[in-house]
Amino acid sequence: MKQVVLVTGGAGYIGSHTVVELQNSGYDVVIVDNFSNSQSSVVENIGKITGITPKLYSFDLADEKACTAFFHKEHIDAIIHFAAYKYVGESVEQPLRYYKNNLYSTLNLLTAMKEHHIKQLVFSSSCTVYGTPDVLPVVETTPVKPATCPYGNTKQIIEEILRDVCHTEHEYKVIALRYFNPIGAHPSALIGELPNGVPQNLIPYITQTAAGIREYLQVFGGDYNTPDGTCLRDYIHVVDLAKAHVKALHRMQNQNMEQNYEVFNIGTGKPSSVLDIIHAFEKVTGKVLPYKIVSRRVGDVEKVWADTTKANQIMGWKALLNLEEMLASAWNWEMKHNQAK
Ligand code: NAD
Ligand code: WQD
Repeated sequence: MKQVVLVTGGAGYIGSHTVVELQNSGYDVVIVDNFSNSQSSVVENIGKITGITPKLYSFDLADEKACTAFFHKEHIDAIIHFAAYKYVGESVEQPLRYYKNNLYSTLNLLTAMKEHHIKQLVFSSSCTVYGTPDVLPVVETTPVKPATCPYGNTKQIIEEILRDVCHTEHEYKVIALRYFNPIGAHPSALIGELPNGVPQNLIPYITQTAAGIREYLQVFGGDYNTPDGTCLRDYIHVVDLAKAHVKALHRMQNQNMEQNYEVFNIGTGKPSSVLDIIHAFEKVTGKVLPYKIVSRRVGDVEKVWADTTKANQIMGWKALLNLEEMLASAWNWEMKHNQAK
């Protein structure tokens, strides 16, 4: 019998790519998404890629009654929990909305897991938990720094909740994946990142600038203590990231976890500056990207990238796609998406 995986937030950017990889790996998928930051057409497009349209439930996971009703209806073997609000700046403006959505959803899922004897959970954490690290690259044991925004705090709090729950629920297997900067899109260009309004993140801003939707890219800060003065990040192809979730499920199902709560960095291990990204984008697309170096963005970390040894060696996962492939896929997605509008 096929394992049934509940993918919360499965219509979102990372969730949709993960659903594709799960289906390609032989899992049955049920998506729960309230489309607060996505569109139902994504689910149809997943069906076009894999030939299987996943089962979909649309409700708010923070709604305890709706959540309970769902678990009474569907048999679930494992959960991958993406559903959350994710914008740093917005979380500073609307902290309660962020705490309610991200924490209630997770608590409702954990409650249902207990009631329905579901023992496996993969959680979407973030490199944001490392804040401004003292030593680079960061390993999983690098100290977590006090969160600088409510969004980041929800990730830290949830990691702690999961650790506590696993401490008493010995049969649980929980893996938190700390994603670095996911970018790019599926090679079909049928799914990708769909930011609402003006993009806050670098890559959608770049592709929209190249598409003529934005006049120029503002490069936030040219005076950092880095080789070219711009910030360093660990950008990872969303398809590689999606595959890490399949590996995490395998690890939980093969009964070979050393502890029942584990954390993994999911990045490439390679830092790139904002100017590296611009130059690589220009190279792969043949477009000239207008940009201006402006003052630093408040709250930006100067540099952060992952040591991925733990995921490589213990989970058997490694990022395979390079920066050019990430940016080419992001550009294909932008062009196809704009044509479809
Ligand atoms: P996304 O906004 O594209 O996807 C999240 C999905 O969850 C959306 O489809 C949204 O409609 C849904 N959702 C949100 N709250 C819900 C609720 N209460 N009930 C039901 N559905 C709900 O975000 P993403 O980029 O795919 O991120 C997925 C996860 O990964 C999030 O937890 C995010 O915090 C985490 N993460 C993202 C990044 C990144 O840069 N994208 C980096 C690190 C971690
Ligand atoms: C990348 C670099 C900017 C936009 C965010 C969250 C983090 C995690 C990943 C969820 C930075 C620069 C950006 C622009 C620019 N998400 N930039 N001009 O800030 O590294 O991480 O997403 O967990 O928590 O904070 O990503 O894409 O916004 O920025 O120069 O218009 O690009 O300064 O150096 P960030 P980003």
